[in-house]
Amino acid sequence: MGGDRRIPVGVLGATGSVGQRFVQLLHRHPWFRVAAVTASERSEGKRYGDAVRWVQNEPLASEIAELPVLPTAPGLDVKVAFSALDSGVAGSAETEFAESGVMVFSNAKNHRMDPDVPLLVPEVNPDHLALLEKQSFPKGGGIVTNPNCSTIGLVIPLRALHEAFGVNRVHVVTLQALSGAGLPGVASMEIMDNVVPFIDGEEEKLETETRKILGLLNGQGVEDAEIVVSAQCTRVPVLDGHLEMVSIGLDRPATPEEAMEVMASFRGVPQEMELPSAPKRPVHLLSGKDHPQPRLHRDTEGGMAVSVGRVRPCPLLDLRMAILSHNTIRGAAGGALLCAELALAQGWVPGMSGPGREQTLTRRR
Ligand SMILES: NC(=O)c1ccc[n+]([C@@H]2O[C@H](COP(=O)([O-])OP(=O)(O)OC[C@H]3O[C@@H](n4cnc5c(N)ncnc54)[C@H](OP(=O)(O)O)[C@@H]3O)[C@@H](O)[C@H]2O)c1
Repeated sequence: MGGDRRIPVGVLGATGSVGQRFVQLLHRHPWFRVAAVTASERSEGKRYGDAVRWVQNEPLASEIAELPVLPTAPGLDVKVAFSALDSGVAGSAETEFAESGVMVFSNAKNHRMDPDVPLLVPEVNPDHLALLEKQSFPKGGGIVTNPNCSTIGLVIPLRALHEAFGVNRVHVVTLQALSGAGLPGVASMEIMDNVVPFIDGEEEKLETETRKILGLLNGQGVEDAEIVVSAQCTRVPVLDGHLEMVSIGLDRPATPEEAMEVMASFRGVPQEMELPSAPKRPVHLLSGKDHPQPRLHRDTEGGMAVSVGRVRPCPLLDLRMAILSHNTIRGAAGGALLCAELALAQGWVPGMSGPGREQTLTRRR
């Protein structure tokens, strides 16, 4: 796929922090092209270039700047849409798009825990895409979600450890970047020279989403993984990149070296299929004693790989480590693009080419 033959897609909530990332990543995407952008009534009717306060570190593409901002309502003339909508409106808007025949790939929290909606991290639970068969939208529409930005960074290394050793308990303290709070963001007077030990709803998301993503697909739906997760979330004065300090309890003992080997060699379906947004190595193991760091490592493999360092024994649980991922790329827009690539390649988007609906239904532990 390339040039004019790329699939036209819509970006819902295109003016926000995540919406801008979608626009940036889609501009050079080999399969998709941005054909429509939407936002709130505040932006509607303007040129995208005038409506958006562009904060990405490369210029906005001129052809996208000229697009009109449309209302966030069905009728965009696209079959695929990426949602970066504020959660206050995402729930009903995404349902309306799906009912109109659009396959929606969403970053918003609203539908993540719906029993018939995949909460997808393509390397971790690609088989959960089969939940789309339980959705009853007409005309080929559907909803696929990706997790909260801090959950994504956590579950990729956890998947590798869970498969090899069985994970039963996780304690995580997050140090989350400002871009995770959306635009215009946290007031500078609140975050300069400061750390805020509270992010509304974040700890609950880490604790519940992790269990669904690592859960088993059965005939009824997803059976949550029996992993107890305790999360404490903080906002820190970093622009992009969430760092997580994690302690992990295992069913079977593992040395730090064994754990590092398992995480470093972890590969998933996106790597096997060589999907365009897939990192070559989902987890990069770092040996520097003070690594990973947001400024140094968040852009590893274009922001799609997770960096892990400081793997060592834990006196409370079994192992502890530091995990870093880019919150608006792997944790949001890039993660949703990878979901769409997998869905398309496996034939889950009606009317669009793919190698068929063969699914990886193997039950990992
Ligand atoms: N930031 C992250 O790292 C991150 C990571 C994972 C998931 N998420 C989730 O992704 C979504 C977007 O997050 P964000 O950080 O990009 O938020 P944001 O910067 O506040 O952007 C929100 C977007 O929603 C639009 N919007 C707001 N009210 C609307 C309405 N009534 N009708 C239609 N559009 C409306 C805004 O348009 P206007 O510009 O016109 O107001 C804007 O385009 C949220 O659900 C968030 O929880 C964010």
